[in-house]
Amino acid sequence: MDNPVAVIGGSGRLGRLVAQRLLDRGAPVRAIGRSVQHARRSLPPGALFFEGDVRRPETLSEPLAGTAALVYCVDPGTADSGPDRPETTVYQGVRNALAAATEGGHRPRVVLVSQIHATHLAHPLNAYGRVLEWRLAGENAVRDSGLPYTVIRPGWLTDTREAGERVRLEQGDRGFGQVSRPDLAEACVQALFHPAADGVTFEIFNEPGTTSPAWSEAFAGLQGDRTPVG
Ligand SMILES: NC(=O)c1ccc[n+]([C@@H]2O[C@H](COP(=O)([O-])OP(=O)(O)OC[C@H]3O[C@@H](n4cnc5c(N)ncnc54)[C@H](OP(=O)(O)O)[C@@H]3O)[C@@H](O)[C@H]2O)c1
Repeated sequence: MDNPVAVIGGSGRLGRLVAQRLLDRGAPVRAIGRSVQHARRSLPPGALFFEGDVRRPETLSEPLAGTAALVYCVDPGTADSGPDRPETTVYQGVRNALAAATEGGHRPRVVLVSQIHATHLAHPLNAYGRVLEWRLAGENAVRDSGLPYTVIRPGWLTDTREAGERVRLEQGDRGFGQVSRPDLAEACVQALFHPAADGVTFEIFNEPGTTSPAWSEAFAGLQGDRTPVG
């Protein structure tokens, strides 16, 4: 990719791994987050940092202008009210990012990091600021944007592969388990480069085992969100 890839939440524990993998592939990276200090501590050299807050649309125009793709991995917060609530971070923030990235008619590729249980609104996790409801609304904003996209719903995140070496992709939001941030970061980057990952939503987990299927094979086994059933 010649144009920059924006990693929104690029200074986070997942985002910085995504940024590093993109840089390793030679893609220019713009990392976006609220705190310069946070970015200084965590961003890989070579990633350009832009101070931006997804809750404030005016801060997104410059960093998202002309980007080839964006990876959205912002933490939702769990408050019921106030600025750090999921409605603003993983729903309105997603809409703000999509609006800024498409200014001037651009059509970036989008990878949204959501979470498992996003469709289970009776799950106890939803008690935290209705996070699951807003996650699903953010997912739907991406699906309805008309842009090429992938929605990834990770299980519980770990820094190492505690649940096993193998990566398993699933669909239908029925599973539960852990996935390492390095494997999730790789999935985000691979999704950007594989046409078979366009228009799909999947869950991702680690499991015992030694080898994972090739990404092309794993993506080819997934159903598109708009594939007619039956
Ligand atoms: N932890 C889990 O088990 C789990 C499970 C499923 C899904 N997830 C999701 O996976 C994603 C990555 O998780 P992580 O552990 O890597 O998160 P993290 O380390 O907390 O990183 C979050 C990133 O979001 C940025 N951010 C937060 N609020 C922002 C805002 N209003 N505007 C712009 N940037 C903002 C943070 O930077 P600043 O603070 O500097 O703004 C940081 O770069 C998140 O969406 C998380 O919810 C996590």
